[in-house]
Amino acid sequence: MNDMSENIFVAGGAGFIGSNIVKTLAKTAKPRIVVYDVNAKEKRNGNVVSFQGDVFDSERLLAVMRKEEVSKVVDMIGLASIPACRKDPAKSFQLNVASVQNVLEAMRLTDAEHLVFPSTAAVYGDVTDPKVNEDIEAKPTTIYGWHKLAAESLINGYAKDYGIDATILRVFNVYGDFLLEQGVISAFVRMALKGTPLTIYGGGQLRDFVHLNDVVDAFINSIGNTSAFQKVINVGSGVGLSINNIGKMVLESFPNTEIVYEPTQNGEYGIYADVSEMQSLLGCKALDPRVGVRVFIEKTKREQQRAIKASTRVAISG
Ligand SMILES: NC(=O)c1ccc[n+]([C@@H]2O[C@H](COP(=O)([O-])OP(=O)(O)OC[C@H]3O[C@@H](n4cnc5c(N)ncnc54)[C@H](O)[C@@H]3O)[C@@H](O)[C@H]2O)c1
Repeated sequence: MNDMSENIFVAGGAGFIGSNIVKTLAKTAKPRIVVYDVNAKEKRNGNVVSFQGDVFDSERLLAVMRKEEVSKVVDMIGLASIPACRKDPAKSFQLNVASVQNVLEAMRLTDAEHLVFPSTAAVYGDVTDPKVNEDIEAKPTTIYGWHKLAAESLINGYAKDYGIDATILRVFNVYGDFLLEQGVISAFVRMALKGTPLTIYGGGQLRDFVHLNDVVDAFINSIGNTSAFQKVINVGSGVGLSINNIGKMVLESFPNTEIVYEPTQNGEYGIYADVSEMQSLLGCKALDPRVGVRVFIEKTKREQQRAIKASTRVAISG
Protein backbone atom coordinates (compact mmCIF):
# COMPACT_ATOMS: atom_id res chain seq x y z
CA MET A 1 0.00 0.00 0.00
CA ASN A 2 2.75 2.42 1.05
CA ASP A 3 5.19 2.35 -1.88
CA MET A 4 8.50 3.94 -0.93
CA SER A 5 10.66 2.26 -3.53
CA GLU A 6 11.41 5.50 -5.40
CA ASN A 7 13.42 8.59 -4.45
CA ILE A 8 11.61 11.08 -2.22
CA PHE A 9 12.02 14.85 -2.56
CA VAL A 10 11.40 16.87 0.62
CA ALA A 11 11.06 20.57 -0.23
CA GLY A 12 11.44 22.61 2.97
CA GLY A 13 13.17 19.58 4.52
CA ALA A 14 15.25 21.74 6.88
CA GLY A 15 12.23 23.17 8.75
CA PHE A 16 10.41 22.16 11.95
CA ILE A 17 8.24 19.36 10.55
CA GLY A 18 10.27 18.69 7.36
CA SER A 19 13.56 17.99 9.19
CA ASN A 20 11.80 15.48 11.43
CA ILE A 21 10.21 13.76 8.42
CA VAL A 22 13.68 13.49 6.86
CA LYS A 23 15.22 12.12 10.10
CA THR A 24 12.60 9.38 10.34
CA LEU A 25 12.65 8.60 6.61
CA ALA A 26 16.45 8.24 6.77
CA LYS A 27 15.98 5.38 9.25
CA THR A 28 13.17 3.62 7.41
CA ALA A 29 13.19 4.35 3.68
CA LYS A 30 15.35 2.44 1.23
CA PRO A 31 15.47 5.03 -1.58
CA ARG A 32 17.32 8.34 -1.61
CA ILE A 33 15.83 11.24 0.33
CA VAL A 34 16.51 14.56 -1.36
CA VAL A 35 16.24 17.71 0.78
CA TYR A 36 15.75 21.05 -0.99
CA ASP A 37 15.60 24.11 1.26
CA VAL A 38 17.02 27.67 1.29
CA ASN A 39 18.35 26.90 4.76
CA ALA A 40 19.82 23.46 4.05
CA LYS A 41 23.55 22.81 4.11
CA GLU A 42 24.80 21.06 0.98
CA LYS A 43 25.79 17.56 2.09
CA ARG A 44 25.40 13.84 1.56
CA ASN A 45 24.80 11.72 4.63
CA GLY A 46 23.92 8.05 4.09
CA ASN A 47 20.78 7.96 1.96
CA VAL A 48 20.03 11.68 2.52
CA VAL A 49 21.34 14.25 0.06
CA SER A 50 20.72 17.94 0.84
CA PHE A 51 20.67 20.89 -1.53
CA GLN A 52 20.56 24.54 -0.57
CA GLY A 53 18.03 25.90 -3.04
CA ASP A 54 15.26 28.42 -3.47
CA VAL A 55 11.89 27.08 -4.65
CA PHE A 56 11.59 30.17 -6.86
CA ASP A 57 14.80 29.25 -8.69
CA SER A 58 12.92 27.00 -11.11
CA GLU A 59 16.00 26.08 -13.13
CA ARG A 60 17.83 24.72 -10.09
CA LEU A 61 14.69 23.07 -8.70
CA LEU A 62 14.17 21.22 -11.99
CA ALA A 63 17.85 20.34 -12.32
CA VAL A 64 17.96 18.81 -8.81
CA MET A 65 14.68 16.91 -9.28
CA ARG A 66 15.89 15.52 -12.63
CA LYS A 67 19.40 14.63 -11.45
CA GLU A 68 18.12 12.89 -8.33
CA GLU A 69 15.29 11.18 -10.25
CA VAL A 70 12.64 11.95 -7.67
CA SER A 71 9.16 10.57 -8.02
CA LYS A 72 7.46 11.32 -4.70
CA VAL A 73 7.37 14.86 -3.33
CA VAL A 74 6.64 16.13 0.17
CA ASP A 75 6.35 19.93 0.04
CA MET A 76 6.95 21.42 3.50
CA ILE A 77 7.73 24.99 2.34
CA GLY A 78 5.37 27.55 3.81
CA LEU A 79 4.84 30.38 6.26
CA ALA A 80 3.08 28.60 9.10
CA SER A 81 2.37 31.38 11.59
CA ILE A 82 -1.08 33.04 11.43
CA PRO A 83 0.22 36.36 12.91
CA ALA A 84 3.22 36.39 10.50
CA CYS A 85 0.89 35.86 7.52
CA ARG A 86 -1.50 38.56 8.77
CA LYS A 87 1.43 40.99 9.11
CA ASP A 88 2.83 40.24 5.64
CA PRO A 89 0.13 38.83 3.31
CA ALA A 90 2.38 39.21 0.24
CA LYS A 91 5.00 36.97 1.86
CA SER A 92 2.26 34.54 2.89
CA PHE A 93 1.07 34.42 -0.74
CA GLN A 94 4.62 33.78 -1.98
CA LEU A 95 5.39 30.99 0.47
CA ASN A 96 1.93 29.42 0.88
CA VAL A 97 0.60 29.69 -2.69
CA ALA A 98 3.21 30.70 -5.31
CA SER A 99 5.79 28.23 -3.97
CA VAL A 100 3.25 25.40 -4.34
CA GLN A 101 2.64 26.40 -7.98
CA ASN A 102 6.42 26.14 -8.58
CA VAL A 103 6.64 22.71 -6.99
CA LEU A 104 3.62 21.46 -8.98
CA GLU A 105 5.05 22.81 -12.23
CA ALA A 106 8.40 21.15 -11.52
CA MET A 107 6.53 17.90 -10.79
CA ARG A 108 4.66 18.19 -14.10
CA LEU A 109 7.86 18.83 -16.04
CA THR A 110 9.77 15.98 -14.40
CA ASP A 111 6.89 13.46 -14.44
CA ALA A 112 6.95 13.15 -10.65
CA GLU A 113 3.95 11.16 -9.49
CA HIS A 114 2.77 11.87 -5.97
CA LEU A 115 2.63 15.02 -3.83
CA VAL A 116 2.02 15.01 -0.07
CA PHE A 117 1.10 18.51 1.06
CA PRO A 118 0.57 20.06 4.52
CA SER A 119 -2.60 22.10 4.67
CA THR A 120 -4.01 23.27 7.98
CA ALA A 121 -6.97 23.25 10.35
CA ALA A 122 -7.13 27.01 9.65
CA VAL A 123 -8.96 26.28 6.36
CA TYR A 124 -12.06 25.35 8.38
CA GLY A 125 -12.35 28.79 10.01
CA ASP A 126 -14.98 29.69 12.56
CA VAL A 127 -16.89 26.40 12.86
CA THR A 128 -20.14 25.85 14.77
CA ASP A 129 -19.59 22.18 15.64
CA PRO A 130 -16.02 21.91 17.01
CA LYS A 131 -15.41 18.34 15.78
CA VAL A 132 -14.65 18.74 12.08
CA ASN A 133 -14.49 16.15 9.35
CA GLU A 134 -12.96 16.73 5.94
CA ASP A 135 -16.34 17.07 4.17
CA ILE A 136 -17.56 20.25 5.84
CA GLU A 137 -17.30 23.45 3.84
CA ALA A 138 -13.98 25.23 4.37
CA LYS A 139 -14.61 28.85 5.40
CA PRO A 140 -11.28 30.32 6.52
CA THR A 141 -11.22 33.48 8.62
CA THR A 142 -7.51 34.27 8.23
CA ILE A 143 -5.33 35.08 5.24
CA TYR A 144 -3.19 32.06 6.18
CA GLY A 145 -6.28 29.82 5.94
CA TRP A 146 -7.33 31.36 2.59
CA HIS A 147 -3.84 30.97 1.14
CA LYS A 148 -3.67 27.32 2.21
CA LEU A 149 -7.12 26.74 0.68
CA ALA A 150 -5.88 28.37 -2.54
CA ALA A 151 -2.91 25.98 -2.49
CA GLU A 152 -5.32 23.05 -2.09
CA SER A 153 -7.21 24.31 -5.19
CA LEU A 154 -3.99 24.54 -7.21
CA ILE A 155 -3.13 20.98 -6.24
CA ASN A 156 -6.60 19.78 -7.26
CA GLY A 157 -6.14 21.58 -10.59
CA TYR A 158 -2.85 19.78 -11.29
CA ALA A 159 -4.37 16.48 -10.15
CA LYS A 160 -7.36 16.81 -12.52
CA ASP A 161 -5.58 18.31 -15.53
CA TYR A 162 -2.15 16.64 -15.38
CA GLY A 163 -2.83 13.45 -13.42
CA ILE A 164 -0.53 14.27 -10.50
CA ASP A 165 -1.65 12.22 -7.50
CA ALA A 166 -1.94 14.27 -4.34
CA THR A 167 -2.61 13.78 -0.66
CA ILE A 168 -3.58 16.87 1.33
CA LEU A 169 -3.04 16.60 5.08
CA ARG A 170 -4.89 19.21 7.15
CA VAL A 171 -2.58 19.42 10.13
CA PHE A 172 -3.84 20.75 13.49
CA ASN A 173 -1.65 22.27 16.28
CA VAL A 174 1.71 20.54 16.35
CA TYR A 175 3.85 20.26 19.51
CA GLY A 176 6.90 18.22 20.42
CA ASP A 177 10.03 20.24 19.62
CA PHE A 178 10.58 23.14 22.03
CA LEU A 179 13.45 24.68 20.07
CA LEU A 180 11.85 24.69 16.63
CA GLU A 181 8.13 25.18 17.19
CA GLN A 182 6.21 28.42 17.69
CA GLY A 183 2.98 27.14 19.23
CA VAL A 184 1.19 28.11 22.42
CA ILE A 185 2.52 25.23 24.56
CA SER A 186 6.16 26.15 24.01
CA ALA A 187 5.35 29.87 24.33
CA PHE A 188 3.81 29.20 27.78
CA VAL A 189 6.79 27.06 28.83
CA ARG A 190 9.16 29.85 27.75
CA MET A 191 7.24 32.34 29.93
CA ALA A 192 7.18 29.92 32.88
CA LEU A 193 10.96 29.32 32.60
CA LYS A 194 11.51 33.09 32.71
CA GLY A 195 9.12 33.44 35.65
CA THR A 196 6.76 35.76 33.73
CA PRO A 197 2.98 35.28 34.03
CA LEU A 198 1.11 33.44 31.26
CA THR A 199 -1.41 35.66 29.51
CA ILE A 200 -4.51 33.79 28.37
CA TYR A 201 -6.98 35.52 26.05
CA GLY A 202 -10.39 33.98 26.71
CA GLY A 203 -9.09 30.48 27.35
CA GLY A 204 -12.18 28.36 26.68
CA GLN A 205 -11.37 27.82 22.98
CA LEU A 206 -10.67 24.15 22.19
CA ARG A 207 -7.72 23.21 20.01
CA ASP A 208 -6.36 19.88 18.80
CA PHE A 209 -2.74 19.35 19.88
CA VAL A 210 -1.03 16.61 17.93
CA HIS A 211 2.46 15.33 18.69
CA LEU A 212 5.17 15.91 16.08
CA ASN A 213 5.99 12.16 15.95
CA ASP A 214 2.38 11.40 14.96
CA VAL A 215 2.43 14.16 12.32
CA VAL A 216 5.66 12.70 10.91
CA ASP A 217 4.07 9.22 10.80
CA ALA A 218 1.03 10.60 8.95
CA PHE A 219 3.29 12.16 6.28
CA ILE A 220 5.42 9.05 5.92
CA ASN A 221 2.40 6.73 5.76
CA SER A 222 0.98 8.94 2.99
CA ILE A 223 3.96 8.68 0.64
CA GLY A 224 3.06 6.43 -2.28
CA ASN A 225 -0.08 5.28 -0.43
CA THR A 226 -2.68 4.71 -3.16
CA SER A 227 -5.55 4.70 -0.60
CA ALA A 228 -4.63 8.31 0.20
CA PHE A 229 -4.40 9.56 -3.42
CA GLN A 230 -6.72 12.54 -4.13
CA LYS A 231 -7.76 12.58 -0.48
CA VAL A 232 -7.92 15.36 2.10
CA ILE A 233 -7.13 13.97 5.55
CA ASN A 234 -7.19 15.61 8.98
CA VAL A 235 -4.04 15.08 11.05
CA GLY A 236 -4.90 15.64 14.69
CA SER A 237 -5.24 13.81 17.98
CA GLY A 238 -9.04 13.83 17.84
CA VAL A 239 -9.17 15.43 21.31
CA GLY A 240 -10.11 19.06 22.01
CA LEU A 241 -8.14 20.73 24.83
CA SER A 242 -8.83 24.31 25.88
CA ILE A 243 -6.07 26.90 26.27
CA ASN A 244 -7.09 26.95 29.97
CA ASN A 245 -6.31 23.20 30.09
CA ILE A 246 -2.86 23.92 28.66
CA GLY A 247 -2.30 26.74 31.20
CA LYS A 248 -3.21 24.35 34.04
CA MET A 249 -0.83 21.68 32.70
CA VAL A 250 2.00 24.23 32.63
CA LEU A 251 1.17 25.13 36.26
CA GLU A 252 1.47 21.45 37.28
CA SER A 253 5.16 21.60 36.26
CA PHE A 254 5.72 25.26 37.23
CA PRO A 255 3.53 25.75 40.33
CA ASN A 256 4.84 29.27 41.05
CA THR A 257 3.70 30.60 37.68
CA GLU A 258 0.85 33.09 37.55
CA ILE A 259 -1.90 33.20 34.91
CA VAL A 260 -3.30 36.55 33.78
CA TYR A 261 -6.64 36.46 31.94
CA GLU A 262 -7.53 38.95 29.20
CA PRO A 263 -10.67 39.11 27.06
CA THR A 264 -10.49 37.03 23.89
CA GLN A 265 -9.43 38.85 20.70
CA ASN A 266 -10.69 36.40 18.08
CA GLY A 267 -13.80 34.82 19.60
CA GLU A 268 -13.85 31.55 21.49
CA TYR A 269 -14.70 29.06 18.75
CA GLY A 270 -13.29 25.61 19.30
CA ILE A 271 -11.99 23.09 16.76
CA TYR A 272 -10.67 19.57 16.86
CA ALA A 273 -10.25 16.85 14.27
CA ASP A 274 -12.42 13.94 13.33
CA VAL A 275 -9.57 11.48 12.80
CA SER A 276 -11.48 8.54 11.26
CA GLU A 277 -9.84 9.06 7.84
CA MET A 278 -6.37 9.38 9.36
CA GLN A 279 -6.90 6.09 11.16
CA SER A 280 -8.49 4.16 8.31
CA LEU A 281 -6.47 5.50 5.33
CA LEU A 282 -3.09 6.10 6.98
CA GLY A 283 -3.26 3.61 9.85
CA CYS A 284 -2.23 6.35 12.32
CA LYS A 285 -3.53 6.86 15.84
CA ALA A 286 -2.09 9.87 17.62
CA LEU A 287 -1.02 10.12 21.25
CA ASP A 288 -3.72 11.51 23.59
CA PRO A 289 -2.64 15.12 24.30
CA ARG A 290 -3.91 14.85 27.91
CA VAL A 291 -0.91 12.55 28.37
CA GLY A 292 1.45 13.79 25.65
CA VAL A 293 1.31 17.51 26.48
CA ARG A 294 2.02 16.87 30.21
CA VAL A 295 4.99 14.64 29.36
CA PHE A 296 6.28 17.21 26.85
CA ILE A 297 6.05 20.12 29.34
CA GLU A 298 7.79 18.18 32.12
CA LYS A 299 10.54 16.88 29.80
CA THR A 300 11.12 20.36 28.34
CA LYS A 301 11.29 21.86 31.83
CA ARG A 302 13.99 19.38 32.92
CA GLU A 303 16.02 19.80 29.69
CA GLN A 304 15.86 23.59 29.75
CA GLN A 305 16.70 23.85 33.45
CA ARG A 306 19.72 21.56 32.86
CA ALA A 307 20.81 23.77 29.93
CA ILE A 308 20.42 26.95 32.03
CA LYS A 309 22.49 25.38 34.87
CA ALA A 310 25.20 24.28 32.44
CA SER A 311 25.45 27.75 30.85
CA THR A 312 25.62 29.37 34.34
CA ARG A 313 28.49 27.00 35.28
CA VAL A 314 30.36 27.96 32.08
CA ALA A 315 29.80 31.67 32.80
CA ILE A 316 31.07 31.33 36.40
CA SER A 317 34.13 29.27 35.48
CA GLY A 318 34.83 31.47 32.40
N1 LIG B 1 3.89 23.98 12.38
C1 LIG B 1 2.59 23.71 12.43
O1 LIG B 1 1.98 23.63 13.52
C2 LIG B 1 1.82 23.50 11.16
C3 LIG B 1 0.45 23.18 11.22
C4 LIG B 1 -0.25 23.02 10.01
C5 LIG B 1 0.40 23.12 8.80
N2 LIG B 1 1.72 23.43 8.78
C6 LIG B 1 2.36 23.58 7.45
O2 LIG B 1 3.48 22.70 7.38
C7 LIG B 1 4.51 23.31 6.58
C8 LIG B 1 5.81 23.30 7.38
O3 LIG B 1 5.63 24.00 8.58
P1 LIG B 1 6.84 24.20 9.61
O4 LIG B 1 6.24 24.62 10.90
O5 LIG B 1 7.74 23.02 9.52
O6 LIG B 1 7.54 25.48 8.93
P2 LIG B 1 9.08 25.89 8.90
O7 LIG B 1 9.10 27.36 8.70
O8 LIG B 1 9.81 25.35 10.08
O9 LIG B 1 9.63 25.17 7.58
C9 LIG B 1 9.53 25.71 6.30
C10 LIG B 1 10.82 25.44 5.57
O10 LIG B 1 10.71 25.99 4.25
C11 LIG B 1 11.95 26.57 3.91
N3 LIG B 1 11.76 27.61 2.89
C12 LIG B 1 11.17 28.82 3.06
N4 LIG B 1 11.23 29.54 1.93
C13 LIG B 1 11.84 28.76 1.02
C14 LIG B 1 12.19 28.95 -0.35
N5 LIG B 1 11.93 30.10 -1.01
N6 LIG B 1 12.81 27.93 -1.00
C15 LIG B 1 13.14 26.77 -0.35
N7 LIG B 1 12.84 26.55 0.96
C16 LIG B 1 12.20 27.53 1.63
C17 LIG B 1 12.46 27.16 5.21
O11 LIG B 1 13.86 27.38 5.16
C18 LIG B 1 12.04 26.10 6.22
O12 LIG B 1 13.07 25.18 6.45
C19 LIG B 1 4.01 24.71 6.21
O13 LIG B 1 3.45 24.64 4.93
C20 LIG B 1 2.91 24.97 7.23
O14 LIG B 1 1.95 25.85 6.74
C21 LIG B 1 2.44 23.62 9.91
